[in-house]
Amino acid sequence: MVFLISLLALNSIVTIANASWAKNLNYRSPSENHPSLGISIHKVVKRSDPTSPFDPAKLNFTHSVASGDPYSNSVILWTRIAPSNDNDRSNATVSGLSPLYNHGPTSEQIRVSKAPVCVNWAIATDITMKTIATSGTVYTSSDIDYTVKLEATKLKAYTQYYYQFTVCNSNNKSPIGKTKTTPSPDDHVTSVSLGIYSCSNYPFGFFNAYGNSIRKKSIDYAIHLGDYIYEYANGEYGWGNSLGRIPQPDGQIYTLYDYRKRIATYRTDLDLLESHASVPWIPVWDDHEVSDNTYRDGASELNNTEASFVADGGVSVDQRKMNAVRAYFEWMPIRQVEMDDNLRIWRSFSIGSLVDLLMLDTRVYDRSITDLYWNTDYVRDISNDAGRSLMGSRQENWFYNSLISSKKRGAIWRLIGSQVIFSRLNQSQALGADTPLNYDAWDGYQSNKNRTFQTLYENNIGNNIMLAGDSHASWVTDLVWNDNKPYDPKTGSGSIGVEFAGSAVTSPCPYGANITQATADNYTSILVAQNPELQWNDLYYRGYYELHISPEKVDAKYFGMPTVRTRNPYEISLANFTVKSGENRLSRPVAGGRVESGTLKGGSTRHTNITHDTANNTWLITNATSLR
Ligand SMILES: *[C@@H]1O[C@H](CO)[C@@H](O)[C@H](O)[C@H]1NC(C)=O
Ligand SMILES: *[C@@H]1O[C@H](CO)[C@@H](O)[C@H](O)[C@H]1NC(C)=O
Ligand SMILES: *[C@@H]1O[C@H](CO)[C@@H](O)[C@H](O)[C@H]1NC(C)=O
Ligand SMILES: *[C@@H]1O[C@H](CO)[C@@H](O)[C@H](O)[C@H]1NC(C)=O
Ligand SMILES: *[C@@H]1O[C@H](CO)[C@@H](O)[C@H](O)[C@H]1NC(C)=O
Ligand SMILES: *[C@@H]1O[C@H](CO)[C@@H](O)[C@H](O)[C@H]1NC(C)=O
Ligand SMILES: *[C@@H]1O[C@H](CO)[C@@H](O)[C@H](O)[C@H]1NC(C)=O
Ligand SMILES: *[C@@H]1O[C@H](CO)[C@@H](O)[C@H](O)[C@H]1NC(C)=O
Ligand SMILES: *[C@@H]1O[C@H](CO)[C@@H](O)[C@H](O)[C@H]1NC(C)=O
Ligand SMILES: *[C@@H]1O[C@H](CO)[C@@H](O)[C@H](O)[C@H]1NC(C)=O
Ligand SMILES: *[C@@H]1O[C@H](CO)[C@@H](O)[C@H](O)[C@H]1NC(C)=O
Repeated sequence: MVFLISLLALNSIVTIANASWAKNLNYRSPSENHPSLGISIHKVVKRSDPTSPFDPAKLNFTHSVASGDPYSNSVILWTRIAPSNDNDRSNATVSGLSPLYNHGPTSEQIRVSKAPVCVNWAIATDITMKTIATSGTVYTSSDIDYTVKLEATKLKAYTQYYYQFTVCNSNNKSPIGKTKTTPSPDDHVTSVSLGIYSCSNYPFGFFNAYGNSIRKKSIDYAIHLGDYIYEYANGEYGWGNSLGRIPQPDGQIYTLYDYRKRIATYRTDLDLLESHASVPWIPVWDDHEVSDNTYRDGASELNNTEASFVADGGVSVDQRKMNAVRAYFEWMPIRQVEMDDNLRIWRSFSIGSLVDLLMLDTRVYDRSITDLYWNTDYVRDISNDAGRSLMGSRQENWFYNSLISSKKRGAIWRLIGSQVIFSRLNQSQALGADTPLNYDAWDGYQSNKNRTFQTLYENNIGNNIMLAGDSHASWVTDLVWNDNKPYDPKTGSGSIGVEFAGSAVTSPCPYGANITQATADNYTSILVAQNPELQWNDLYYRGYYELHISPEKVDAKYFGMPTVRTRNPYEISLANFTVKSGENRLSRPVAGGRVESGTLKGGSTRHTNITHDTANNTWLITNATSLR
């Protein structure tokens, strides 16, 4: 049992209370196979002292509000209502596992016997919160870091809603959030817009990218492909000192408290808060939500082997991964779609008959061994082994079946949210390396890639758009089965879709943290020349992209941030791409023949003039659009 609601042992009043407790999804474990990630509501109720309530006036909505995982009739709502801005300091333990990251008393022993925090919530069709669609009451407590996550149901499809939380018996109210349901699967919607983000690293800069789509009111939903947080100490990876952005706690993170505190620090960025409160998010994790190059049985920093991991319910986990997962589910406005699956985050969304969005987990769930830096040659040697999988067989089967049934149901477009880059990317000439491919990406899992192409070709599935993050740079490619389907870079024939891989919100350029535009463009010209299907690459700008989708075409618009060293509302339009329905390639001339930065195959590049005045640390920006 994940959480214990004893209907027999308790009187009816407590039973009603229990039902309300259970409505806060954060008491549940995200997986029935990991019951220890859940909290026993029975025990929490028994411990809490109704005669010792918190003073409602002293409770604070510390991190505003958020919504996510929209369906056509429901959406997830999130807030945190706490007696302090700090996070709960307990370290959850997982029985049977070595206490690698557990010290001190268990959560049970350090709990305060206060009454729970009671909050009312309401979701309405108007911003004044008069026309209430649904409302209810939930509880929260220190056990779940005072987070609140619930599903608001019985909603209307493709409708803008507003929501708010209020501490029970008080006038202490949260900010009003905005959210939106998806269209019903059969609705013939003609236009949907998405903002696609990845790799937001707090000590590397301000999350201006998140705020810009909100300032423009240009998107319906925000997609995050992962690396929403990073696990490093500021000194290891970041220059938070110079920006006043030191991620807390300042060190590598391991414990449940650490992961909670780290997400909570990130969630003080004003543009991130604005985005969460304004549009529903559909996020998945990449590796850094746990730790660098995480895979099924380990991660690079631990340098661990199977021996340090313990099989628990079919998937190997260690305490650090459990802590990371617990904190992620507490803080992110997402659903657990299948409780009897292991730490599953992969899931899908239908957006009318226009789009099916498949969100993959190419990292944590069930991935075969990856490049851990000391085994690169070994992983290169096995990268074409038929048995390797980036996703595990269960997710792979779901993925291929989802592609097939998406076509059968007549959805016009298939969007596939991957973390790592799908297309082959040979960097030998730019890096001069003898390991030209990134074996931590799809290139290290060739058979999984082949099975994906095979599914698309055998079932004649078109209109496929791959989305990727992870790399901290922009890469736009036709989707090509290398060494199998002849491809013409001029016309795009031989392609079965398009991949849009986006730059980082703030994480630095992979070819050098403070790279100049001239050096960056040196590399992009080499990379674009070496890879036939790579049509545009920019390494210089931090940023994001938007997809504007209609039955006839998908427009991708890439935006670069002139600087992320200050909070500012500027952005530069870097490049625009179009994919027409049925063409399965980038429309020619690609990007209209001209981009703002990087290298466009067969096209030209102009440059906006941005100068950094080191004397007073100001940025002179011309030709950037201010969204203030
Ligand atoms: C409430 O939280 C906000 C945001 O973290 C903070 O600025 C404010 O100081 C807090 N108020 C109290 C009374 O703790
Ligand atoms: C949790 O673990 C960390 C170190 O792993 C330790 O410093 C801290 O005191 C522990 N907290 C509690 C409440 O046990
Ligand atoms: C990691 O483990 C491998 C295999 O045991 C070993 O060859 C390598 O030197 C280790 N690397 C580090 C950084 O400890
Ligand atoms: C990468 O490109 C180089 C030269 O352009 C080539 O020799 C090498 O075989 C390529 N590697 C892979 C894995 O495709
Ligand atoms: C994947 O497909 C390519 C191209 O047909 C082929 O060269 C490679 O051997 C295949 N690998 C596996 C594991 O199927
Ligand atoms: C890049 O710039 C930052 C901020 O000015 C500085 O702290 C850092 O040392 C620089 N890094 C490199 C590799 O030059
Ligand atoms: C660009 O590459 C050329 C040729 O390799 C080299 O001479 C030049 O110095 C590079 N420029 C920059 C700014 O890196
Ligand atoms: C992209 O399209 C917009 C209009 O939607 C235009 O304002 C912008 O200049 C274009 N960007 C580039 C780089 O061509
Ligand atoms: C960029 O702006 C600076 C300062 O205004 C100016 O000195 C420089 O010539 C400009 N460069 C280009 C390429 O326009
Ligand atoms: C910084 O210096 C430049 C001249 O180098 C000047 O134009 C600009 O106004 C200064 N900015 C501030 C904020 O003082
Ligand atoms: C950039 O702005 C300057 C000054 O407003 C203008 O003369 C120039 O044409 C602009 N450049 C581009 C590429 O739009």
